[in-house]
Amino acid sequence: MCGIVGYAGPAGSISDVSERPLSVVLEGLRRLEYRGYDSAGVAVVAPGASQVSSRKKAGKLSNLVELLAAEPVPVATAAIGHTRWATHGGPTDANAHPHLADDGKLAVIHNGIIENFAALRDEFIAEGVRFLSQTDTEVAAHLLAREYRSSGDLAAAMRATAQLLEGTFTLLAVHSDLPGTVVGARHDSPLVVGLGQGENFLGSDVAAFVSETRVALELGQDQVVTITADEVVVTDFEGRIVTPTTFTVDWDASAAEKGGFRTFMDKEIHDQPQAVAETLLGRTDAAGRLTLDELRIDESVLRAVDKIVVIACGTAAYAGHVAKYAIEHWCRIPVEVELAHEFRYRDPVLSEKTLVVAITQSGETMDTLMAVRHAREQGARVLSIVNTHGSTIPRESDAVLYTHAGPEIAVASTKAFLAQITATYLLGLYLAQVRGTKFPDEIAEVLTELKAMPAKIQRVIDNGERVRVIARWMDSRSVLFLGRHVGFPVAMEGALKLKELAYIHAEGFAAGEIKHGPIALVEPGLPVFVIVPSPRSRDSLHSKVISNIQEIRARGARTLVIAEEGDEDVLPYADEVFWVPQTPTLLAPLVTVVPLQIFACELASARGLDVDQPRNLAKSVTVE
Ligand code: AGP
Repeated sequence: MCGIVGYAGPAGSISDVSERPLSVVLEGLRRLEYRGYDSAGVAVVAPGASQVSSRKKAGKLSNLVELLAAEPVPVATAAIGHTRWATHGGPTDANAHPHLADDGKLAVIHNGIIENFAALRDEFIAEGVRFLSQTDTEVAAHLLAREYRSSGDLAAAMRATAQLLEGTFTLLAVHSDLPGTVVGARHDSPLVVGLGQGENFLGSDVAAFVSETRVALELGQDQVVTITADEVVVTDFEGRIVTPTTFTVDWDASAAEKGGFRTFMDKEIHDQPQAVAETLLGRTDAAGRLTLDELRIDESVLRAVDKIVVIACGTAAYAGHVAKYAIEHWCRIPVEVELAHEFRYRDPVLSEKTLVVAITQSGETMDTLMAVRHAREQGARVLSIVNTHGSTIPRESDAVLYTHAGPEIAVASTKAFLAQITATYLLGLYLAQVRGTKFPDEIAEVLTELKAMPAKIQRVIDNGERVRVIARWMDSRSVLFLGRHVGFPVAMEGALKLKELAYIHAEGFAAGEIKHGPIALVEPGLPVFVIVPSPRSRDSLHSKVISNIQEIRARGARTLVIAEEGDEDVLPYADEVFWVPQTPTLLAPLVTVVPLQIFACELASARGLDVDQPRNLAKSVTVE
């Protein structure tokens, strides 16, 4: 989950050299830093130079910028840059990318894991090569140098190297022999091309170059790309020319800026009404029927589906759990929700009648990608719900349903979560429409309620001051979260937000489970959030949760209750109540999670923690 950037500009002569390659790459790294920030580095190439020039530094990008100010690199015509999330070897200067070879003539950066690096490294060491780092990447640099010395063609050398590597990788390389050229290869890890005027770009995702161009090329699996100022050549690993798909990025650079908020997470919490509204846009025809055009799965296939398996990780998995309640209720199809990294190891029972739904903001989560591949190998149909255009998972799915949350920069997911839930509602209603398990007027009624949700989310955000005050004074070392039905995944998500932002132990439970052991954790003063379902929900769901609040309150818990406006039944048992607008039971997560997001964000900010880039995390987990 590292961030990778490449730039190739005019390289006709020494008069073409400029600061631009370095400045474009540094700006791209700044926009990709959410993908990993353990260390950063750049390499530049200029005509006539006998070597590439490289600088790299442990820590955040700002450390590299300081180093470059103290020890500038020469002006250049091509450049590559890398911001790292450490896998092999700690976050040190030596382990930072780029890694050099061929007497400093070649520089390589890498995203992914080279699984056979140890054997390859032993071979090089036996030949007398001295390694300067503990990384798997350095092996790729030496392999590429050896192949280049034999072929004299950097793209051919990249193809040969790629075929020797096992594992996952996106590689970018520059060589002092080729001053205006960057060569890249991808296998499982992401890489997209930005098409400029007299210059071209490479990036782990479009955020790397969206401020320069919004016209991009999707690179497929096992492809090598060569960019120069005026040309982009793509081949497969055997050297056959490939014509990639062009797409236009549907958001601009300003969307990836903070817009006056103190953090991206603050901004993205406030973006949520728009994220839900835009995910709903354009999904119905003039008659009000759902038209999910991009699904690309024939209605007859959807009618034959006899099981749905949702695969995802982290927050996306909690969106999947919400989907389970909604889809089972609307469509009467059994829905399993599986953590993607567990999925393929349990030998799941799949058939051509199984619809696997992969939920992923980045579209690059390796655990989810591998689960998608396994599902398709087993003959299941795969539909992915994705926020990032041009990413890998949609390309490897039978169908895609895009969320339109815009770029989510903060590592902790908020607006993408609400957009994912919204997309799963749309999928459930579409299945109900296709399979006839709900009448058109019933579907229309739910859609009307869904379209009213952005305003309700906005109301919760506007009324968030009380939860901010509570957060600023919270000094507990542990917090519990309870919920029933669709409140249970919300409780899990609330706990995850607190863990990843404030580094506080937090745990989410199904409220009915508390009596079966976890209530032993309850002691005087322990803060416990409880998500209370609507009093209008069925089967006394509401009264049972009230009972749960009484049970923990009787043992001294500090009860922080999220309840529907007007629900006075909670008042005798709540130390604090955070009201949310009246909402149909199945749609409630869109509002009940918001106070929990605000709480975690505010508490972490109050403690001076880096809310946008929490320790040890990365936005896109592109290693298994
Ligand atoms: C969310 O706050 C986390 N950062 C993480 O759990 C994330 O949801 C998970 O890694 C899945 O990412 P994806 O949606 O990009 O696949």
